[in-house]
Amino acid sequence: MRTQDPKTIYLSEYQQPAFWVEHVNLTVSLFDGYTEVSSELTLKKNPDVASRELVLNGIDQDIQSLQLDDKQLSSADYHYADGVLTLNCDSEQLIFRAVTRIDPQNNTSLEGLYQSGSMYCTQCEAEGFRKITFYPDRPDVMATFTTRIEADAGQFPILLSNGNPVDSGALEGGRHYAVWEDPFPKPSYLFALVAGDLSSKDDRFTTRSGRDVTLRIFVEPQNAHKVDFALDSLKKAMQWDEEVYGREYDLDLFMIVASDFFNMGAMENKGLNIFNSAAVLASPDTSNDQRFERIEGIVAHEYFHNWSGNRVTCRDWFQLSLKEGFTVFRDTEFSSDTHDRAVKRIETVAGLRAVQFPEDNGPMAHPVRPDSYIEINNFYTATVYEKGAEVVRMIHTLVGPDDFRRGSDLYFERFDGQAVTTDDFVACMEQVSGLDLTQFKRWYTQAGTPRLSVTDDYDADSQTYRLFFHQSCPATPGQTDKRPFVIPVKLGLLGADGNDLPIHTRGNYNAGTEVLTLTDEVTEVVFTGVSERPVPSLLRDFSAPVKWSFGYSDEQLAFLAANDANGFNRWDALQQLYSRAILSMAEDHRAGRSLTPPSVLVETVANVAGDASLSHAIRASMLTLPGYAILKDAVDVVYIDDLIAARKHLVKTLATRYRDIWRSLTEKLSSDAPYEFNAEESGRRQLQGLSLWYWLKAGDQAAFDFAAELYASATNQTDRSNALRAVLAGDAEALQQSLLSDFYERWQSDTQMVEQWLTMQAGTPGMTVPGIETLMQHPAFDIKNPNKVRSVIVGFAMNTESFHDARGEGYALLAKVVQQLNALNPQLAARLVTLLSDWKRYDADRGKMMASALETILATDSLSSNVFEMAQRALKD
Ligand code: BES
Ligand code: ZN
Repeated sequence: MRTQDPKTIYLSEYQQPAFWVEHVNLTVSLFDGYTEVSSELTLKKNPDVASRELVLNGIDQDIQSLQLDDKQLSSADYHYADGVLTLNCDSEQLIFRAVTRIDPQNNTSLEGLYQSGSMYCTQCEAEGFRKITFYPDRPDVMATFTTRIEADAGQFPILLSNGNPVDSGALEGGRHYAVWEDPFPKPSYLFALVAGDLSSKDDRFTTRSGRDVTLRIFVEPQNAHKVDFALDSLKKAMQWDEEVYGREYDLDLFMIVASDFFNMGAMENKGLNIFNSAAVLASPDTSNDQRFERIEGIVAHEYFHNWSGNRVTCRDWFQLSLKEGFTVFRDTEFSSDTHDRAVKRIETVAGLRAVQFPEDNGPMAHPVRPDSYIEINNFYTATVYEKGAEVVRMIHTLVGPDDFRRGSDLYFERFDGQAVTTDDFVACMEQVSGLDLTQFKRWYTQAGTPRLSVTDDYDADSQTYRLFFHQSCPATPGQTDKRPFVIPVKLGLLGADGNDLPIHTRGNYNAGTEVLTLTDEVTEVVFTGVSERPVPSLLRDFSAPVKWSFGYSDEQLAFLAANDANGFNRWDALQQLYSRAILSMAEDHRAGRSLTPPSVLVETVANVAGDASLSHAIRASMLTLPGYAILKDAVDVVYIDDLIAARKHLVKTLATRYRDIWRSLTEKLSSDAPYEFNAEESGRRQLQGLSLWYWLKAGDQAAFDFAAELYASATNQTDRSNALRAVLAGDAEALQQSLLSDFYERWQSDTQMVEQWLTMQAGTPGMTVPGIETLMQHPAFDIKNPNKVRSVIVGFAMNTESFHDARGEGYALLAKVVQQLNALNPQLAARLVTLLSDWKRYDADRGKMMASALETILATDSLSSNVFEMAQRALKD
């Protein structure tokens, strides 16, 4: 909780600890009403640091006894305040013992040890271990752990921790114990413990060097039928990491536990990953294709951390992107290899533009490697994760795939068992490639999305084509002057026939290269032997996370959308065309003019819808309009009513003009084949869902009938949710209500389905603040459960039309929920604050109401440092 002046931590003040921990002996005894934790730390002086002060973190610790070597400590022997216990130690080698009591049953923060339904589990990243016992809770302190758990045998038959099971047995009074040993030194944030009455399913994986690994997933018994997909995903990920990175698993046992109460998606604890149930439990009947895809990606992500994060970890939390950016890059590549690379790239970039670009364009902007923080939990952001992954991707582009692999081999070999920095990672890539990445590293230190504006010139006589690149980067909080970035530009030049022209450049570039590397504010590139004026295809595959512009005509964008050899850029050209049309109609709406989408766009849509040479999935993503998050980021002042009117008008035009196309696509794409999750099938279902949605927007009764029938006869959740989504977006209230109540009736005992049910309602057009308040009174809602809160509150905030209702009630409701959660779960409360952080971009009236909601939050009694930091950053000029 916030003291008078929450302390800011600076990267520049990093210092090694005075003592290292060599080994931890931990005993955790669960009792009803309290838990007793006994720890024994074997400490060793760090010879590189002069200080003799042993600094241990500890929060909500009820001290029973503290002991240094053989000496029992009294309160005069140490200093304990604000969660930090310090004592002076003269010896080089010593043993610190602590017995403390904690209260997991009332721990609603979901950090440290807490109760989740009928089980106990832990979450220690980033700084949760200090809620379990006294410890130097910082990632550069790596130790081996022996963990003994004691609990009632009937209530908690399963007792788990990191590493290998080495002992177990019965105790008096119906209790039992288990002992686990983790041979790999690890930071405390990777510690985990689970106790519960869980059922498990096993699988096996043999590593290429012959280690026989048991894979075991633990779930509450009612979820036993939902584990197969995660096990398969895990095996695929293990195989992929061996093939692509040469990385093998290093223990005989790999466990996953599903928990219903979890702040994040999942956590990579050594040998014992803990997952949000929603991010691991899957069945065709309860999970749609998107959910399957997410589960596969997240299982892979946490598994990949075993190397990128666990074997090689972060020196300090400023280096978070070292493990997260790299691991997101790894899981994204895994998904690209497993399914469809172009589709995956489109999804990734759409997500980056919808979430990270706005973050970089507002008060929350920060570098991939931040310089300071109050609460590290507030920096698990799209910038650290998704932009961080783009930075790794650019390194991959610059050094090439072979050197990238050699660089990662060197990184894992050189730093195995160590806690390192992003500079260490880059140094490995420099060493193997011979490239100097000094300037490139500005991507880690400078915040903000670079702008790249491109112009051209063609001289027919000399057959010379020139591109002029001009880069700049807007000021961000605390950073006014930006220096040029290294920007890899992958490009092609299209001739009038739609094919790529051969590329020859003059100057600093190699003839025939298709990736240019920009390093200066202004760059001119000369292409020779260009026989006709080309249309440039720029930033292919989104080769750098920048906002780029070129003065294309609508016709040129339509030409690229139809012809570009790069699938990603075909999609991107059409996205630019949609955005441009919507933004210009929004201006028309504001000026009271009538709205007419450009005919070249309307025609392109028909061509794409009927283009059988495109995969279903690519067609679906090309026919999906940019969402409000992306549109908002493209204007100086957001007049949300005008944006909504313009976007709706475009949807309505496309829906009615092409009702026959949507109808025939919807019907043609039906299938009675049993459900299978793969790129082909999920693409078919995605295009059918989208076609149905458009068809329904045209208002045809036949479309409603089709949707009602699809819902009723669906044998999988993808079809069912496609039908529901379409019906909820149309205006047939009676049908909406009957499907929603049917859904709840049928699925109320399935937690994941109830979460989806809440999300769908929160997102229904026409949802109101009183409607949300009613939903929050529903027995299925629980303010202490982050998934339920996210379903309803984030679901509502994503419902642009309803949340931004002109009276500002949505903002006030959000402030109230944040205040309530501040006391229960500060980490979640702080995340919700970001939903108001772009207040300055809206019209003056809305901006004022959003800011006043932030002021309300800031004025909360006993404000947590988590929420304080976010609200204060959001409001700062
Ligand atoms: N290490 C994180 C989980 C985490 C985040 C713990 C913040 C504590 C605080 C984990 O590896 C992770 O990144 N999970 C993501 C999903 C992933 C696929 C990007 C998550 O939980 O959302
Ligand atoms: Zn991660």
